[in-house]
Amino acid sequence: MPEKDDVAADRFYAEVPAAHQTFGLKGSGAYDWGMANRLARIFQPADGRTVMLAIDHGYFQGPVRGLERVDLNIVPLLAQVDALMLTRGMLRTSIPQAMSNPVVLRVSAGSSILKELSQEAIAVSIEDAIRLNAAAMAVQVYVGGEFEHQSIQNLTKLVDAGLQYGIPVLAVTAVGREMVRDARYFRLACRICAELGAQFVKTYFVDQGFSTVAASCPVPLIVAGGKKVEERDALIMVERALQEGAAGVDMGRNVFQSAKPVAMLDALNNIVHHGWSAERAWEWLTSRPEEQPAVPSA
Ligand code: R5P
Repeated sequence: MPEKDDVAADRFYAEVPAAHQTFGLKGSGAYDWGMANRLARIFQPADGRTVMLAIDHGYFQGPVRGLERVDLNIVPLLAQVDALMLTRGMLRTSIPQAMSNPVVLRVSAGSSILKELSQEAIAVSIEDAIRLNAAAMAVQVYVGGEFEHQSIQNLTKLVDAGLQYGIPVLAVTAVGREMVRDARYFRLACRICAELGAQFVKTYFVDQGFSTVAASCPVPLIVAGGKKVEERDALIMVERALQEGAAGVDMGRNVFQSAKPVAMLDALNNIVHHGWSAERAWEWLTSRPEEQPAVPSA
């Protein structure tokens, strides 16, 4: 059947070349649409950067300070984050179903702080990740760790599962207690994660040579915050990481253990997305009052 409408020829813009749709995120040129679309929910397409909030610490550490009550401590922060990284247990029990933030689901587990941390397995099925509408799946990779082989296998299996359904994988470079945290180590660990197919990598900033870690990793690097430090120091670290090639942060304790978590996230957003210097963001932060979680009356 020919089409019913007699469409005017000028509506086809025959002289205009078809748009070449690209998503400028590092390394994403060959991704399928679903994979790229999920990444575009995590990394703001305007600048290719993200402010992620990591609250998955409980999967091996239990209720760390600041995460005693995710419903009270964390839910009020969601408006200021580009993506939320957490376990399926906390997602199902403590996060509103109407949340619009993309979820980066922690899918590796297997040890507690009482045992050897590197002994992990894939602890969530791909079906459950899909059921939970995960925008990405996160796996710990212990390069140089006792169970290095097992954790690398976890990564490669997840990448295969993720590719099948268009779900990106975040590889988290874990550092064992006895490992040196220097650029040489992180170049090795981050590059291995990218070579094996991770679509983005979470790592730690190092004072010397972080730009070589970022340059040699062909996918976006986001930095963890690490242990709680002075807000000013955390903000300076973020500014330097961005200057040296990071695509954002996936910060936990330096946000939810701050006396001003909402203002801390505002400060981070201003550095990551609006070009503020760390010094300006810190001065602004110091002018903000301390914050208390809103506790509903019984
Ligand atoms: C790594 O073990 C987990 O993903 C942590 O939740 C995350 O790295 C911690 O973030 P932060 O170091 O900023 O507290």
